[in-house]
Amino acid sequence: MKIGVFDSGIGGLSVLHEARKVLPNEHYLYYADTSHVPYGTKPKDEIRGYIFAAISFLRDQGCEALVVACNTATSVAIDDLRRTFTTLPIIGMEPAVKPAVQANHHQRVLVLATEMTLKEPKFHNLVSKVDNEGIVDYLSLQELVLFSERFDFAEATVIPYLRARLAQVNLACYGHVVLGCTHFIYFRPHIQQVFPAGTVILDGNAGTVQHLRNLVTGFRPEAPAAGQVQFFHSGVLAPAAGFERYLDLLDRC
Ligand code: DGL
Repeated sequence: MKIGVFDSGIGGLSVLHEARKVLPNEHYLYYADTSHVPYGTKPKDEIRGYIFAAISFLRDQGCEALVVACNTATSVAIDDLRRTFTTLPIIGMEPAVKPAVQANHHQRVLVLATEMTLKEPKFHNLVSKVDNEGIVDYLSLQELVLFSERFDFAEATVIPYLRARLAQVNLACYGHVVLGCTHFIYFRPHIQQVFPAGTVILDGNAGTVQHLRNLVTGFRPEAPAAGQVQFFHSGVLAPAAGFERYLDLLDRC
């Protein structure tokens, strides 16, 4: 099966990385909207235009299923996408708030995401559905998107930024931290470092890939040979090397 994986940039590679472990024989087209990243700080209508262009491109390339590997894009456009591309199964992302709340014992949950995701009704509806005791807090870490896009994972850059953003936060009260942006996966070691030992850091990637697996295995038996991946920067075929250095990094996140 030909599967399109889309993100504003390199964040969705974390979903692709997971998908290839579970479904190694499928073909993937990875679309990074490099010309327009970051999405999280831009107006909603502008982002929607970019998302529709990307999904139309992947559909025209013959993708039979799509993963919107971006929490921000899912928040602003998933319902419209499904209404428009009616013949294409589309899987979105959702911050892993539910598993975090369910696994938590007498501690709070902190959701980290982009500015747009945290503003959107989709996020607030999700929290009000699962957070009966009012234990969920949230914070934008938008700069991490830019750091990762420029491949800056240096502790000297990231740790002071995290400490500044978290300066008013009582870190010890959180049992679970939810990474609600696919770009943040690269920073799991940094985030773990600033929170007390024992804080559990969750993301939504495994859940999304599980949906994809159910979809693909329902579609037809496992593909016979190893699948391939093609990479695109905003609709232009791109060399794999620029993406592979991120995929290598994900083995350690
Ligand atoms: N990777 C994205 C997400 O999961 C979006 C980051 C951005 O472009 O601001 O939300």
